[in-house]
Amino acid sequence: MKHQSAERGAWGSKLGFVLAAAGSAIGLGNIWGFPTQTGLNGGAGFVLVYLVCVLLIGVPVMIAELTIGRRSKSDPVGAFKKLAPESAWKYLGGLGVLTGLVILSYYSVIAGWTLKYILMTVQGVFDTANTESVTQIFSGFTSDGYQTTVFHLLFMCITVWVVTGGIEGGIERVTKILMPVLLGLLLLLVIRSVTLPGAGAGIEFYLKPDFSKITFEVVLAALGQAFFSLSLGMGAMITYGSYLSEKEDLVSSAFYVSLSDLTIAFLAGFAIFPALFAVEGLSPDQGPGLIFIVLPNIFESIPFGQAFGVAFYILLAIAALTSSISLLEVVVAYFIDQRGWHRRKAAITVGIMAFLLGVPSALGEGAVPSLSGFLANADFLFGKLSLIIGGLLICIFLGWKWGIQKALAEIRSSNDSFSLAPVWTILIRFICPLAIAVILVDRLLSLFRA
Ligand code: PHE
Repeated sequence: MKHQSAERGAWGSKLGFVLAAAGSAIGLGNIWGFPTQTGLNGGAGFVLVYLVCVLLIGVPVMIAELTIGRRSKSDPVGAFKKLAPESAWKYLGGLGVLTGLVILSYYSVIAGWTLKYILMTVQGVFDTANTESVTQIFSGFTSDGYQTTVFHLLFMCITVWVVTGGIEGGIERVTKILMPVLLGLLLLLVIRSVTLPGAGAGIEFYLKPDFSKITFEVVLAALGQAFFSLSLGMGAMITYGSYLSEKEDLVSSAFYVSLSDLTIAFLAGFAIFPALFAVEGLSPDQGPGLIFIVLPNIFESIPFGQAFGVAFYILLAIAALTSSISLLEVVVAYFIDQRGWHRRKAAITVGIMAFLLGVPSALGEGAVPSLSGFLANADFLFGKLSLIIGGLLICIFLGWKWGIQKALAEIRSSNDSFSLAPVWTILIRFICPLAIAVILVDRLLSLFRA
Protein backbone atom coordinates (compact mmCIF):
# COMPACT_ATOMS: atom_id res chain seq x y z
CA MET A 1 0.00 0.00 0.00
CA LYS A 2 2.82 2.30 0.94
CA HIS A 3 4.46 1.80 -2.39
CA GLN A 4 1.14 2.51 -4.07
CA SER A 5 0.63 5.86 -2.42
CA ALA A 6 4.14 6.91 -3.43
CA GLU A 7 3.21 5.89 -6.96
CA ARG A 8 -0.06 7.89 -6.72
CA GLY A 9 1.44 11.22 -5.62
CA ALA A 10 -0.26 14.35 -4.26
CA TRP A 11 -0.53 18.07 -5.01
CA GLY A 12 2.18 20.27 -3.53
CA SER A 13 -0.12 23.21 -2.72
CA LYS A 14 -3.68 24.43 -3.07
CA LEU A 15 -2.66 26.87 -5.78
CA GLY A 16 -1.00 24.04 -7.64
CA PHE A 17 -4.18 21.99 -7.42
CA VAL A 18 -6.46 24.83 -8.50
CA LEU A 19 -4.25 25.62 -11.48
CA ALA A 20 -4.04 21.98 -12.52
CA ALA A 21 -7.80 21.47 -12.17
CA ALA A 22 -8.44 24.75 -13.99
CA GLY A 23 -5.99 23.50 -16.60
CA SER A 24 -8.07 20.37 -16.99
CA ALA A 25 -11.24 22.39 -17.35
CA ILE A 26 -9.80 25.04 -19.66
CA GLY A 27 -9.20 23.51 -23.04
CA LEU A 28 -10.46 23.19 -26.57
CA GLY A 29 -13.91 23.24 -24.97
CA ASN A 30 -13.42 26.86 -23.91
CA ILE A 31 -11.46 28.38 -26.73
CA TRP A 32 -12.93 26.37 -29.58
CA GLY A 33 -16.19 24.90 -28.28
CA PHE A 34 -17.62 27.85 -26.40
CA PRO A 35 -17.32 30.47 -29.17
CA THR A 36 -18.50 27.89 -31.71
CA GLN A 37 -21.60 27.12 -29.66
CA THR A 38 -22.22 30.79 -28.94
CA GLY A 39 -22.02 31.55 -32.64
CA LEU A 40 -24.36 28.70 -33.55
CA ASN A 41 -26.87 29.46 -30.79
CA GLY A 42 -27.51 33.12 -31.36
CA GLY A 43 -24.91 34.92 -29.24
CA ALA A 44 -25.55 36.65 -25.92
CA GLY A 45 -28.64 34.60 -25.01
CA PHE A 46 -26.53 31.45 -25.07
CA VAL A 47 -23.85 33.12 -22.95
CA LEU A 48 -26.45 33.95 -20.32
CA VAL A 49 -27.91 30.46 -20.21
CA TYR A 50 -24.43 28.98 -20.07
CA LEU A 51 -23.64 31.10 -17.03
CA VAL A 52 -26.73 29.81 -15.24
CA CYS A 53 -25.85 26.19 -16.13
CA VAL A 54 -22.33 26.54 -14.76
CA LEU A 55 -23.50 28.10 -11.50
CA LEU A 56 -26.54 25.92 -10.83
CA ILE A 57 -25.31 22.58 -12.14
CA GLY A 58 -21.60 22.72 -12.91
CA VAL A 59 -20.36 24.02 -9.56
CA PRO A 60 -22.48 21.64 -7.40
CA VAL A 61 -21.44 18.62 -9.47
CA MET A 62 -17.81 19.69 -9.28
CA ILE A 63 -18.05 19.90 -5.47
CA ALA A 64 -19.59 16.40 -5.55
CA GLU A 65 -16.76 14.94 -7.66
CA LEU A 66 -14.02 16.55 -5.59
CA THR A 67 -15.66 15.27 -2.39
CA ILE A 68 -15.91 11.71 -3.70
CA GLY A 69 -12.29 11.91 -4.84
CA ARG A 70 -10.80 13.24 -1.66
CA ARG A 71 -12.84 10.94 0.59
CA SER A 72 -11.83 7.82 -1.33
CA LYS A 73 -8.28 8.85 -2.33
CA SER A 74 -8.69 6.68 -5.35
CA ASP A 75 -9.19 6.54 -9.11
CA PRO A 76 -12.85 6.58 -10.26
CA VAL A 77 -13.28 2.80 -10.13
CA GLY A 78 -11.64 2.53 -6.72
CA ALA A 79 -13.63 5.50 -5.45
CA PHE A 80 -17.01 3.85 -6.00
CA LYS A 81 -15.64 0.51 -4.75
CA LYS A 82 -14.56 2.12 -1.50
CA LEU A 83 -17.62 4.23 -0.88
CA ALA A 84 -20.15 1.59 -1.96
CA PRO A 85 -18.47 -1.81 -1.57
CA GLU A 86 -19.95 -4.85 -3.24
CA SER A 87 -22.21 -2.80 -5.48
CA ALA A 88 -22.51 -2.15 -9.18
CA TRP A 89 -21.47 1.49 -8.74
CA LYS A 90 -17.90 0.61 -9.65
CA TYR A 91 -19.09 0.28 -13.24
CA LEU A 92 -19.84 4.00 -13.17
CA GLY A 93 -16.15 4.51 -12.42
CA GLY A 94 -15.34 2.11 -15.24
CA LEU A 95 -17.49 4.12 -17.64
CA GLY A 96 -15.55 7.23 -16.58
CA VAL A 97 -12.19 5.60 -17.26
CA LEU A 98 -13.35 4.36 -20.66
CA THR A 99 -14.76 7.80 -21.47
CA GLY A 100 -11.45 9.41 -20.55
CA LEU A 101 -9.61 7.09 -22.90
CA VAL A 102 -11.95 7.72 -25.84
CA ILE A 103 -12.13 11.50 -25.37
CA LEU A 104 -8.34 11.60 -25.14
CA SER A 105 -8.08 9.65 -28.41
CA TYR A 106 -9.86 12.26 -30.52
CA TYR A 107 -9.02 15.27 -28.38
CA SER A 108 -5.39 14.64 -29.26
CA VAL A 109 -6.26 14.60 -32.96
CA ILE A 110 -7.77 18.10 -32.79
CA ALA A 111 -4.94 19.26 -30.56
CA GLY A 112 -2.61 17.95 -33.28
CA TRP A 113 -4.33 20.27 -35.77
CA THR A 114 -3.44 23.19 -33.52
CA LEU A 115 0.25 22.19 -33.65
CA LYS A 116 0.07 22.15 -37.44
CA TYR A 117 -1.62 25.56 -37.39
CA ILE A 118 1.19 27.00 -35.29
CA LEU A 119 3.64 25.86 -37.96
CA MET A 120 1.52 27.08 -40.86
CA THR A 121 0.99 30.48 -39.28
CA VAL A 122 4.71 30.85 -38.58
CA GLN A 123 5.45 29.94 -42.20
CA GLY A 124 2.97 32.57 -43.38
CA VAL A 125 0.81 30.06 -45.24
CA PHE A 126 -2.27 32.23 -44.66
CA ASP A 127 -0.63 35.51 -45.66
CA THR A 128 -2.59 36.12 -48.81
CA ALA A 129 -5.49 33.87 -48.04
CA ASN A 130 -9.20 34.46 -48.48
CA THR A 131 -12.11 32.45 -47.09
CA GLU A 132 -12.05 30.04 -49.96
CA SER A 133 -8.36 29.31 -49.86
CA VAL A 134 -8.32 28.94 -46.05
CA THR A 135 -11.15 26.43 -46.33
CA GLN A 136 -9.12 24.56 -48.90
CA ILE A 137 -6.01 24.61 -46.73
CA PHE A 138 -8.00 23.26 -43.77
CA SER A 139 -9.76 20.55 -45.80
CA GLY A 140 -6.50 19.65 -47.49
CA PHE A 141 -4.75 19.18 -44.16
CA THR A 142 -7.55 17.39 -42.31
CA SER A 143 -8.04 14.94 -45.15
CA ASP A 144 -4.31 14.20 -45.33
CA GLY A 145 -4.38 11.20 -42.98
CA TYR A 146 -0.62 10.90 -42.80
CA GLN A 147 -0.13 14.42 -41.50
CA THR A 148 -3.04 14.40 -39.06
CA THR A 149 -1.76 11.10 -37.62
CA VAL A 150 1.78 12.42 -37.22
CA PHE A 151 0.59 15.53 -35.36
CA HIS A 152 -1.77 13.39 -33.26
CA LEU A 153 1.22 11.21 -32.31
CA LEU A 154 3.35 14.22 -31.49
CA PHE A 155 0.71 15.68 -29.20
CA MET A 156 0.13 12.33 -27.47
CA CYS A 157 3.87 12.00 -26.79
CA ILE A 158 3.97 15.41 -25.10
CA THR A 159 0.95 14.45 -22.96
CA VAL A 160 2.52 11.14 -21.92
CA TRP A 161 5.77 12.89 -21.11
CA VAL A 162 4.08 15.28 -18.66
CA VAL A 163 2.00 12.57 -16.96
CA THR A 164 5.06 10.35 -16.55
CA GLY A 165 6.53 13.11 -14.37
CA GLY A 166 3.83 12.49 -11.75
CA ILE A 167 1.44 14.79 -9.90
CA GLU A 168 3.62 17.42 -8.30
CA GLY A 169 6.74 17.10 -10.47
CA GLY A 170 4.90 16.69 -13.78
CA ILE A 171 1.32 17.93 -13.97
CA GLU A 172 1.50 20.62 -11.28
CA ARG A 173 4.86 21.98 -12.39
CA VAL A 174 3.88 22.25 -16.06
CA THR A 175 0.41 23.74 -15.51
CA LYS A 176 1.73 26.32 -13.06
CA ILE A 177 3.86 27.76 -15.86
CA LEU A 178 1.41 27.30 -18.72
CA MET A 179 -1.77 28.74 -17.19
CA PRO A 180 -0.45 32.29 -16.63
CA VAL A 181 1.07 32.25 -20.14
CA LEU A 182 -2.31 31.27 -21.51
CA LEU A 183 -4.09 34.09 -19.70
CA GLY A 184 -1.50 36.63 -20.88
CA LEU A 185 -1.78 35.57 -24.52
CA LEU A 186 -5.56 35.60 -24.40
CA LEU A 187 -5.71 39.09 -22.90
CA LEU A 188 -3.44 40.35 -25.67
CA LEU A 189 -5.79 38.91 -28.26
CA VAL A 190 -8.85 40.39 -26.57
CA ILE A 191 -7.30 43.86 -26.58
CA ARG A 192 -6.44 43.49 -30.26
CA SER A 193 -9.90 42.28 -31.11
CA VAL A 194 -11.98 44.89 -29.29
CA THR A 195 -9.87 47.79 -30.60
CA LEU A 196 -10.41 46.92 -34.27
CA PRO A 197 -12.60 49.35 -36.18
CA GLY A 198 -16.08 47.85 -36.46
CA ALA A 199 -15.68 45.66 -33.38
CA GLY A 200 -18.83 47.14 -31.79
CA ALA A 201 -21.23 44.90 -33.72
CA GLY A 202 -19.45 41.82 -32.40
CA ILE A 203 -19.55 43.08 -28.84
CA GLU A 204 -23.26 43.64 -29.20
CA PHE A 205 -23.83 40.15 -30.63
CA TYR A 206 -21.90 38.73 -27.71
CA LEU A 207 -23.32 40.79 -24.85
CA LYS A 208 -26.81 41.97 -25.74
CA PRO A 209 -29.17 39.03 -25.35
CA ASP A 210 -32.04 38.60 -27.74
CA PHE A 211 -34.39 36.67 -25.45
CA SER A 212 -36.47 35.39 -28.33
CA LYS A 213 -33.47 33.30 -29.37
CA ILE A 214 -33.34 31.35 -26.09
CA THR A 215 -35.03 28.09 -26.99
CA PHE A 216 -35.01 24.67 -25.38
CA GLU A 217 -32.29 23.67 -27.84
CA VAL A 218 -30.11 26.53 -26.63
CA VAL A 219 -30.50 25.44 -23.02
CA LEU A 220 -29.57 21.88 -23.92
CA ALA A 221 -26.53 22.99 -25.86
CA ALA A 222 -25.40 25.13 -22.94
CA LEU A 223 -25.72 22.34 -20.40
CA GLY A 224 -23.79 19.88 -22.57
CA GLN A 225 -21.13 22.49 -23.17
CA ALA A 226 -20.85 23.16 -19.41
CA PHE A 227 -20.22 19.49 -18.64
CA PHE A 228 -17.53 19.11 -21.25
CA SER A 229 -15.88 22.39 -20.45
CA LEU A 230 -15.77 21.83 -16.69
CA SER A 231 -14.38 18.30 -17.18
CA LEU A 232 -17.35 16.81 -15.34
CA GLY A 233 -19.12 13.48 -15.56
CA MET A 234 -16.20 11.11 -16.11
CA GLY A 235 -14.24 11.29 -12.90
CA ALA A 236 -11.51 13.74 -13.91
CA MET A 237 -12.39 15.82 -10.86
CA ILE A 238 -12.71 12.68 -8.73
CA THR A 239 -9.17 11.80 -9.76
CA TYR A 240 -7.74 15.30 -9.24
CA GLY A 241 -9.62 15.53 -5.92
CA SER A 242 -8.03 12.27 -4.81
CA TYR A 243 -4.61 13.93 -4.71
CA LEU A 244 -5.92 16.77 -2.54
CA SER A 245 -4.91 17.09 1.09
CA GLU A 246 -7.36 16.96 3.99
CA LYS A 247 -6.93 20.59 4.84
CA GLU A 248 -7.88 22.16 1.51
CA ASP A 249 -11.37 23.55 1.20
CA LEU A 250 -13.33 21.70 -1.49
CA VAL A 251 -16.05 24.31 -1.96
CA SER A 252 -13.80 27.27 -2.66
CA SER A 253 -11.61 25.04 -4.86
CA ALA A 254 -14.64 24.17 -7.00
CA PHE A 255 -15.54 27.85 -7.21
CA TYR A 256 -12.07 28.95 -8.27
CA VAL A 257 -11.82 26.24 -10.89
CA SER A 258 -15.25 26.98 -12.34
CA LEU A 259 -14.68 30.70 -12.27
CA SER A 260 -11.37 30.36 -14.13
CA ASP A 261 -13.05 28.14 -16.69
CA LEU A 262 -15.87 30.64 -17.19
CA THR A 263 -13.48 33.56 -17.43
CA ILE A 264 -11.34 31.94 -20.11
CA ALA A 265 -14.36 30.89 -22.17
CA PHE A 266 -15.79 34.39 -21.87
CA LEU A 267 -12.50 35.98 -22.90
CA ALA A 268 -12.17 33.58 -25.83
CA GLY A 269 -15.50 34.86 -27.13
CA PHE A 270 -14.22 38.40 -26.70
CA ALA A 271 -11.12 37.56 -28.68
CA ILE A 272 -13.18 36.13 -31.52
CA PHE A 273 -16.54 37.87 -32.05
CA PRO A 274 -15.46 41.53 -32.18
CA ALA A 275 -12.71 40.58 -34.64
CA LEU A 276 -15.10 38.46 -36.66
CA PHE A 277 -17.64 41.27 -37.02
CA ALA A 278 -14.86 43.70 -37.84
CA VAL A 279 -14.02 41.72 -40.96
CA GLU A 280 -16.68 42.20 -43.55
CA GLY A 281 -18.69 39.29 -44.88
CA LEU A 282 -18.11 36.78 -42.09
CA SER A 283 -20.94 35.32 -40.06
CA PRO A 284 -20.67 33.91 -36.53
CA ASP A 285 -22.55 30.66 -37.12
CA GLN A 286 -19.70 28.82 -38.80
CA GLY A 287 -19.64 25.76 -36.57
CA PRO A 288 -16.36 24.02 -35.90
CA GLY A 289 -14.67 25.86 -38.76
CA LEU A 290 -14.76 29.08 -36.73
CA ILE A 291 -11.31 28.61 -35.26
CA PHE A 292 -9.55 26.93 -38.15
CA ILE A 293 -11.11 28.71 -41.10
CA VAL A 294 -12.51 32.05 -39.99
CA LEU A 295 -9.71 33.04 -37.66
CA PRO A 296 -6.82 32.71 -40.15
CA ASN A 297 -8.88 35.01 -42.35
CA ILE A 298 -9.17 37.54 -39.58
CA PHE A 299 -5.51 37.37 -38.69
CA GLU A 300 -4.63 37.85 -42.31
CA SER A 301 -6.61 41.07 -42.55
CA ILE A 302 -5.52 42.88 -39.37
CA PRO A 303 -2.25 44.65 -38.56
CA PHE A 304 0.33 42.31 -37.01
CA GLY A 305 -2.14 39.54 -37.70
CA GLN A 306 0.50 36.91 -38.22
CA ALA A 307 2.03 37.44 -34.77
CA PHE A 308 -1.43 37.32 -33.19
CA GLY A 309 -2.19 34.20 -35.18
CA VAL A 310 0.89 32.42 -33.91
CA ALA A 311 0.07 33.50 -30.35
CA PHE A 312 -3.49 32.24 -30.70
CA TYR A 313 -2.60 28.75 -31.89
CA ILE A 314 0.09 28.41 -29.24
CA LEU A 315 -2.56 29.36 -26.71
CA LEU A 316 -4.92 26.76 -28.08
CA ALA A 317 -2.24 24.07 -27.91
CA ILE A 318 -1.37 24.94 -24.31
CA ALA A 319 -5.01 24.84 -23.27
CA ALA A 320 -5.45 21.50 -24.99
CA LEU A 321 -2.35 20.06 -23.34
CA THR A 322 -3.39 20.84 -19.76
CA SER A 323 -6.73 19.13 -20.52
CA SER A 324 -5.34 16.08 -22.30
CA ILE A 325 -3.03 15.55 -19.33
CA SER A 326 -6.07 15.20 -17.07
CA LEU A 327 -7.81 12.84 -19.48
CA LEU A 328 -4.75 10.61 -19.51
CA GLU A 329 -4.33 10.89 -15.74
CA VAL A 330 -7.79 9.42 -15.10
CA VAL A 331 -6.90 6.25 -16.98
CA VAL A 332 -3.36 6.14 -15.58
CA ALA A 333 -4.71 6.47 -12.01
CA TYR A 334 -6.92 3.47 -12.69
CA PHE A 335 -3.96 1.31 -13.72
CA ILE A 336 -1.85 2.50 -10.78
CA ASP A 337 -4.55 2.08 -8.13
CA GLN A 338 -6.43 -0.96 -9.39
CA ARG A 339 -3.75 -2.90 -11.22
CA GLY A 340 -0.68 -1.89 -9.22
CA TRP A 341 1.22 -0.63 -12.28
CA HIS A 342 4.04 1.87 -12.08
CA ARG A 343 3.17 5.36 -13.29
CA ARG A 344 5.61 5.25 -16.18
CA LYS A 345 4.38 1.95 -17.53
CA ALA A 346 0.76 3.08 -17.12
CA ALA A 347 1.29 6.42 -18.87
CA ILE A 348 3.13 4.93 -21.84
CA THR A 349 0.74 2.00 -22.29
CA VAL A 350 -2.38 4.14 -22.05
CA GLY A 351 -0.79 6.72 -24.35
CA ILE A 352 -0.24 4.04 -27.00
CA MET A 353 -3.81 2.77 -26.57
CA ALA A 354 -5.26 6.26 -26.91
CA PHE A 355 -3.06 6.98 -29.91
CA LEU A 356 -4.20 3.84 -31.73
CA LEU A 357 -7.83 4.49 -30.83
CA GLY A 358 -7.45 8.01 -32.23
CA VAL A 359 -6.12 6.93 -35.62
CA PRO A 360 -9.59 6.41 -37.16
CA SER A 361 -10.48 9.94 -36.00
CA ALA A 362 -7.28 11.27 -37.53
CA LEU A 363 -7.99 9.52 -40.82
CA GLY A 364 -11.72 10.05 -41.05
CA GLU A 365 -12.25 13.78 -40.93
CA GLY A 366 -12.15 15.13 -44.44
CA ALA A 367 -15.61 16.59 -44.75
CA VAL A 368 -15.16 20.02 -43.21
CA PRO A 369 -16.20 22.54 -42.02
CA SER A 370 -18.76 20.42 -40.20
CA LEU A 371 -17.32 17.36 -38.52
CA SER A 372 -19.05 14.18 -39.52
CA GLY A 373 -16.76 11.19 -39.45
CA PHE A 374 -15.51 8.86 -36.75
CA LEU A 375 -14.38 11.78 -34.60
CA ALA A 376 -17.81 13.39 -34.56
CA ASN A 377 -19.46 10.12 -33.55
CA ALA A 378 -16.93 9.44 -30.80
CA ASP A 379 -17.51 12.98 -29.54
CA PHE A 380 -21.26 12.54 -29.53
CA LEU A 381 -21.18 9.21 -27.67
CA PHE A 382 -18.41 9.99 -25.19
CA GLY A 383 -17.93 13.76 -25.12
CA LYS A 384 -21.66 14.38 -24.79
CA LEU A 385 -23.79 11.35 -23.89
CA SER A 386 -21.39 9.61 -21.55
CA LEU A 387 -20.50 12.77 -19.61
CA ILE A 388 -24.14 13.60 -19.09
CA ILE A 389 -24.98 10.03 -18.00
CA GLY A 390 -21.97 10.10 -15.68
CA GLY A 391 -23.00 13.45 -14.21
CA LEU A 392 -26.53 12.26 -13.57
CA LEU A 393 -25.36 9.07 -11.86
CA ILE A 394 -22.81 10.95 -9.75
CA CYS A 395 -25.62 13.17 -8.41
CA ILE A 396 -27.77 10.13 -7.67
CA PHE A 397 -24.86 8.31 -6.06
CA LEU A 398 -23.94 11.18 -3.81
CA GLY A 399 -27.44 12.41 -3.03
CA TRP A 400 -29.21 9.11 -2.58
CA LYS A 401 -26.80 6.20 -2.24
CA TRP A 402 -23.56 7.14 -0.48
CA GLY A 403 -25.43 9.86 1.38
CA ILE A 404 -25.48 13.60 1.62
CA GLN A 405 -24.54 13.50 5.32
CA LYS A 406 -21.30 11.64 4.67
CA ALA A 407 -20.46 14.04 1.87
CA LEU A 408 -21.19 17.03 4.10
CA ALA A 409 -18.98 15.55 6.82
CA GLU A 410 -16.12 15.27 4.32
CA ILE A 411 -16.63 18.84 3.09
CA ARG A 412 -16.90 20.16 6.67
CA SER A 413 -13.68 18.47 7.70
CA SER A 414 -11.92 21.31 5.89
CA ASN A 415 -14.64 23.99 5.91
CA ASP A 416 -16.76 23.82 9.02
CA SER A 417 -18.87 26.80 8.08
CA PHE A 418 -20.06 25.55 4.64
CA SER A 419 -23.00 27.93 4.86
CA LEU A 420 -24.38 26.99 1.46
CA ALA A 421 -24.86 23.37 2.55
CA PRO A 422 -28.71 23.46 2.38
CA VAL A 423 -28.62 24.98 -1.12
CA TRP A 424 -26.05 22.49 -2.32
CA THR A 425 -28.08 19.62 -0.88
CA ILE A 426 -31.21 20.63 -2.79
CA LEU A 427 -29.26 21.19 -5.97
CA ILE A 428 -27.43 17.87 -5.89
CA ARG A 429 -30.43 15.77 -4.83
CA PHE A 430 -33.16 17.34 -6.96
CA ILE A 431 -32.36 20.17 -9.33
CA CYS A 432 -29.20 18.82 -10.96
CA PRO A 433 -30.42 15.26 -11.56
CA LEU A 434 -33.74 16.53 -12.93
CA ALA A 435 -32.15 19.05 -15.26
CA ILE A 436 -29.57 16.55 -16.45
CA ALA A 437 -32.23 13.88 -16.97
CA VAL A 438 -34.12 16.25 -19.25
CA ILE A 439 -31.08 16.90 -21.40
CA LEU A 440 -30.26 13.21 -21.47
CA VAL A 441 -33.68 12.27 -22.74
CA ASP A 442 -33.34 14.93 -25.42
CA ARG A 443 -29.93 13.61 -26.46
CA LEU A 444 -31.31 10.11 -26.73
CA LEU A 445 -34.30 11.29 -28.71
CA SER A 446 -32.00 13.20 -31.01
CA LEU A 447 -30.43 9.86 -31.93
CA PHE A 448 -33.76 8.84 -33.39
CA ARG A 449 -34.44 12.24 -34.92
CA ALA A 450 -31.19 12.11 -36.87
N1 PHE B 1 -12.64 20.39 -20.17
C1 PHE B 1 -11.81 20.10 -21.29
C2 PHE B 1 -12.02 21.20 -22.33
O1 PHE B 1 -12.75 22.11 -22.11
C3 PHE B 1 -12.06 18.73 -21.86
C4 PHE B 1 -12.17 17.64 -20.85
C5 PHE B 1 -13.36 16.96 -20.71
C6 PHE B 1 -11.08 17.32 -20.03
C7 PHE B 1 -13.49 15.97 -19.75
C8 PHE B 1 -11.20 16.35 -19.07
C9 PHE B 1 -12.41 15.66 -18.92
O2 PHE B 1 -11.47 21.14 -23.38
